[in-house]
Amino acid sequence: MAELAIDAQPFVPPLHLVESTARAGEAVPRLSLEHVSVTFRGRERPAVDDVSLEIRSGEFVALLGPSGCGKSTLLNVFAGFKAPSRGRVLLEGQALTGPSSKCGVVFQKHSLFPWMSVLENVAFGPRRLGFPDPRGVALELLNAVGLADVANAWPSSLSGGMQQRVGIARALATRPPVLLMDEPFGALDAQTRSLMQEELLSIWDRLKPTVVFVTHDIEEAIFLADRVVVMEALPGRIAREFNIPFPRPRAAEVMDDPAFIERRREIADIIRVEARKSFR
Ligand SMILES: Nc1ncnc2c1ncn2[C@@H]1O[C@H](COP(=O)(O)OP(=O)(O)O)[C@@H](O)[C@H]1O
Ligand SMILES: [Mg+2]
Repeated sequence: MAELAIDAQPFVPPLHLVESTARAGEAVPRLSLEHVSVTFRGRERPAVDDVSLEIRSGEFVALLGPSGCGKSTLLNVFAGFKAPSRGRVLLEGQALTGPSSKCGVVFQKHSLFPWMSVLENVAFGPRRLGFPDPRGVALELLNAVGLADVANAWPSSLSGGMQQRVGIARALATRPPVLLMDEPFGALDAQTRSLMQEELLSIWDRLKPTVVFVTHDIEEAIFLADRVVVMEALPGRIAREFNIPFPRPRAAEVMDDPAFIERRREIADIIRVEARKSFR
């Protein structure tokens, strides 16, 4: 009886236990897909078929595969823009039923409001969520992406690379724990792209969001990610996953490392087979 009475007391854990509980809490995946399939209306075959994936808090995952293999579809499922036809998506262990302010999204083509200054674009999210100083928050983020000096410019006056950086600042302005990116550097020239990849890693290092980064570029995936998830085409499934153990911070030189080249070759072999399947 006495034991039962003790158990019934509300348990207030001492601080060190709170901390260890928080750490144990990180074992709950930040994002997970459970047997997710997506079939578009009018299509016989699913675009994505029975995909299960767990992404840890703070992890940087690249979703890699040939065009048409279902990468964007999966990213839209993660973002809550598209409901799976089967299976479910969990954000911090809770079923996701629509877009969440916990996820920032960046697309290939920037989606900045052309009628707002750079600063107002970035302040938009914090303002909508009722943050106390939206412009201050925006300026901080613009600083983080090295663009504080163009805060008052119109988006249209910036280069493609700068516009994408503003897009990243905007996606991160409300400090979402998850950043979803769909080929964000796909429209940039090779040099800008390479600089942007290093820039993204430095931002990630500072803010440590959980990242899902969609790309069809093998080098980009290996350079950026902790884990590369290679997709099969028709229907979209996970072909293989690769852990990428290169130490951080990473600089572009890591691409000359024999281990990097070996991994690239291994993944390229899989992608070649998959690209052929979906080539029409
Ligand atoms: N809105 C849609 N309606 C019908 N089919 C679609 C739609 N969006 C994508 N698909 C199809 O789903 C498959 C996967 O597309 P997508 O996810 O865009 O691939 P990826 O991003 O890897 O290039 C393709 O066969 C594509 O034609
Ligand atoms: Mg796509």
